[in-house]
Amino acid sequence: MTSNSAMDANSLAGVHNILAEIYGLEGTVKKLPGEHDLNFHVRTSDERNFLLKLHAPGNDAELDMQVSVLEHLAAHAPQLPVSKAVPDRYGATLTDVTYLGPRKARLLTWLDGNVWAKAERRGEPAAQSLGYLLAELDRSLATFEHQGTKRIYNWDIARAVRHLENLHYIEDETKRQAVGEILQQFADDLLPRLQDCSRQVIHNDANDYNVLLDENGQVSGLLDFGDMVESCRVVEIAVAAAYALIGASDPVGVAATIAGAYHLKNQITEQEADLIFGLVKTRYAVSMCMAAKQIRENPENQYLLVSQEDVWREMQRLNAENARLANMRIRSACGFAPVPHAKRVIRWLEMNAHAFSPVIRPELATPKTIVFDFTHTATYAAQLAGFSGAEFDAFCEDQIREAGADYGIGIYGEDRTVYKSDAFEMGSPEVRRSVHLGIDIFAPDFEPVHAPMAGTVAFYHDDAVYNGFGPTVLLEHEASEGDKFWTLYGHLSRRGCENLKIGQKIEKGEAFAEFGPREENGEWPPHLHFQIVTDHLGLEARMHGVGVRQQWPVWREISPDPSVILGLPVSASAIVAQDKTALVQERSLRIGRSLSIAYSDAPLKIVGGDGCYLVDESGKRWLDMVNNVCHVGHCHPRVVEAAKTQMGQLNTNSRYLHDTLVEYSHRLTDLFPDPLNVCFFVNSGSEANDLAIRLARTYTGNRDLLTVDHAYHGHLSSLIEVSPYKFAGKGGEGRPSHVRVVQMPDLYRGQWRYGDEDAGRNYAEDVRRKIEDLKKEGKSPALFFSEGILGTGGQLVLPKGYLQHAYEHVREAGGLCLADEVQVGFGRVGSHMWAFETQGVVPDIVTLGKPIGNGHPMAAVITSEKVAAAFANGMEYFNTFGGNPVSASIGLAVLDVIRDERLKHHCQVTGERMMAGARALAEKHTVIGDVRGHGLFIGIELVRDRETLEPAADELDEIIRKMKTRHGILLSSEGPHHNVLKIKPPAQFSFEDCDYFLASLDEVLSN
Ligand SMILES: Cc1ncc(COP(=O)(O)O)c(C=O)c1O
Repeated sequence: MTSNSAMDANSLAGVHNILAEIYGLEGTVKKLPGEHDLNFHVRTSDERNFLLKLHAPGNDAELDMQVSVLEHLAAHAPQLPVSKAVPDRYGATLTDVTYLGPRKARLLTWLDGNVWAKAERRGEPAAQSLGYLLAELDRSLATFEHQGTKRIYNWDIARAVRHLENLHYIEDETKRQAVGEILQQFADDLLPRLQDCSRQVIHNDANDYNVLLDENGQVSGLLDFGDMVESCRVVEIAVAAAYALIGASDPVGVAATIAGAYHLKNQITEQEADLIFGLVKTRYAVSMCMAAKQIRENPENQYLLVSQEDVWREMQRLNAENARLANMRIRSACGFAPVPHAKRVIRWLEMNAHAFSPVIRPELATPKTIVFDFTHTATYAAQLAGFSGAEFDAFCEDQIREAGADYGIGIYGEDRTVYKSDAFEMGSPEVRRSVHLGIDIFAPDFEPVHAPMAGTVAFYHDDAVYNGFGPTVLLEHEASEGDKFWTLYGHLSRRGCENLKIGQKIEKGEAFAEFGPREENGEWPPHLHFQIVTDHLGLEARMHGVGVRQQWPVWREISPDPSVILGLPVSASAIVAQDKTALVQERSLRIGRSLSIAYSDAPLKIVGGDGCYLVDESGKRWLDMVNNVCHVGHCHPRVVEAAKTQMGQLNTNSRYLHDTLVEYSHRLTDLFPDPLNVCFFVNSGSEANDLAIRLARTYTGNRDLLTVDHAYHGHLSSLIEVSPYKFAGKGGEGRPSHVRVVQMPDLYRGQWRYGDEDAGRNYAEDVRRKIEDLKKEGKSPALFFSEGILGTGGQLVLPKGYLQHAYEHVREAGGLCLADEVQVGFGRVGSHMWAFETQGVVPDIVTLGKPIGNGHPMAAVITSEKVAAAFANGMEYFNTFGGNPVSASIGLAVLDVIRDERLKHHCQVTGERMMAGARALAEKHTVIGDVRGHGLFIGIELVRDRETLEPAADELDEIIRKMKTRHGILLSSEGPHHNVLKIKPPAQFSFEDCDYFLASLDEVLSN
């Protein structure tokens, strides 16, 4: 290697010559580090950057491999952030030059970024992006073949066994032994399992000096393909993890993140996932052997010594990790069950819940309990923190006595503040165990403990340290299919355990131990810690009783909720608050993935709502401008109260007489013009529209349906069929034959535009034409679907007279007309209670949803007596939940609030202010093409050009993102071209909110 100091101006002059003569480039040149080759950063006067490599002679095969792989990647995965070859003046990518002897020159495109080792933002997103990059890289390398990769290479950790013979180079005995153990474990355990793993060419060296990160902490480049080899694919992940985790507070977490991200883009098998942790350690062992050998051969190489310090430190840290737990975490990150048999055990326990006997006081038929709160939000948290031991004991006793309870309960899944000692750290202070894995039962010392089911004494340990478990017993049990699990009993008395023998059988109900006194139980108030264990991590009776919150998906499988065995009269488990990454992952495993996540790049975890604001887990408030469902404001106290009160009185189906339901139907129909006086209650807007189709078909005897282009009317099969937004979009099956689609009356970019007085009539002509088409086939329409303002169409206000003319055509043909008010009803349009009223029409059927229950799932169909009468044809209409007393009470409360807070009027004046403000912005920002709406149902359409109306969809996405990140405002897009900013906040949206939005939009559009 040539050191920097040895590189004088003359030698750089040689580099300049090469650049000028061979590549026709001029600029500045900076020497870069490199182990074998000479590397230079070239910056030309026109600010282009290149990497010039001058390869030492002697390894042509490897060099050819490096040249070929970049060609392969440029052709197959041009999006990857890897260098591209820049040909010389004659088109060659490899050129013979003379520079400190004969060399091959290669010019490559420059990759921006900081090497991982020196980058500041090496957090989870960095590890994740590294996983994605390697996955994509390996997908393209899977088809790459080159003789140079088919080598027996000492840096291939799949061949780590070769290094057993190099062990002797490691002089330090401790290190030699540690490395030897890892290599032996590789030979005995990993190697046989590697044989079945998929093989391909891999990069094999995504180390912390070969990976670049940008300023956002995302991987921006991968360098150096000189270590490529055909090996086991999983080695790629292990090598990257080995370096990425250096210095991380949670090294296994980094490895798990990389593996999980890799798996998402390039699936690995469970077997591969199970090998990663062991292979990371193997990489360290190989590295130490290689370095020891090289240092022996080349003693002055200080560079190697320095890098080995990291390796030795990280190897020790990983050795201190529980390998079983590490594997579980990696499995979990990849979406594999962390403890494969845990689910079977949990199911078996649930199936047999009736058969377990009480753990204490079997004579109590229905024990009375009091639940303690050991979180930081407990009313007595400060008191607890200051208690002496005796005070803590007295506190528990007093609470139990005062509540008249038989015993106290400490709950499962509780994130506790009481675990303060270092023993609760997992490797570093940032990774602490704090979530309770069992249920505590607080009762006096020497209280007998009974076995809930038959078992054998498997493990015993006296954890006689301050705040430890004290005497602890694990009973072993067997679920179906031979799956073993254990019940753990902590904080016992010594004398009660004295006679227990390992292997001793314990009968169901047998009193086999007793609660320990404070002096013996780890210095806690007397209580039993009862826990289920599906895998004791090799810790036996030293098993943890508290887990890491951030690792909850794993810990909940290791120790599931023991409520299933205890059968307590109270809820004794908490929902553990998980971090967003864990939630996204769990969600993707357990909830159908066709459900999208808002702001998927940086999703929000929302834990509260208040008026027009949503509150995230950190307490940050977000202005919600999307949610017309929580029409009268998130968590409106009057609505919440109505729900709570009625839920506490009665909730049943609507076949019984109930004042609230009748009152509600009265109040609701009072808001409609005659003859719309009859209600049907359902649970969602989709159900309402589906029922409307049935009503119309029964009444008219016709089957066919008319719908407006781009509309959405619901997710049921019958409604996907009348929703061009769905059936004509991705995954859609096209228009069904019984549905006719009429032209969308778009005054901004449609056939007839603003200013055309006849636009409404003209657009309605298409309704007539579609009916004519039907007639030619001997058919007539049953129902014409339209909203009063078109939502998915792009917040489009209908042209004057459109519905009037359209309804005339439909009715003339014997069809009925439906106004879908699911989005726009309940005073949102400001001037009227219903959007159809702005068109001066009275529909035959109106469907209501979203705002009707302020978030409670309810909906309704309103129609005339004659349509309802036709439907009463003998077939009963029954809906289990529709119109239940809780929904009716909520519906009434919503109507009360709309009335009492004058929300209809408020929508009108705030909407006018908003539209005036947006139109003023349009004078300044040409990207605003159109501002339209009624009340607080508004669309702002963005265009790149006001003449061509080219939609500015990408720009809108960017604006929505910036409004969120810079101003905390939540918005969404709409319209066939995805270029309409949709505005429909809760109706309480204030003038201040409106002005804040306008100022924020101005700022975002200006910058
Ligand atoms: C206009 C319209 N109709 C019907 C529906 C369906 O309502 P739900 O999602 O409650 O089934 C929606 C839902 O977005 C809608 O926007």
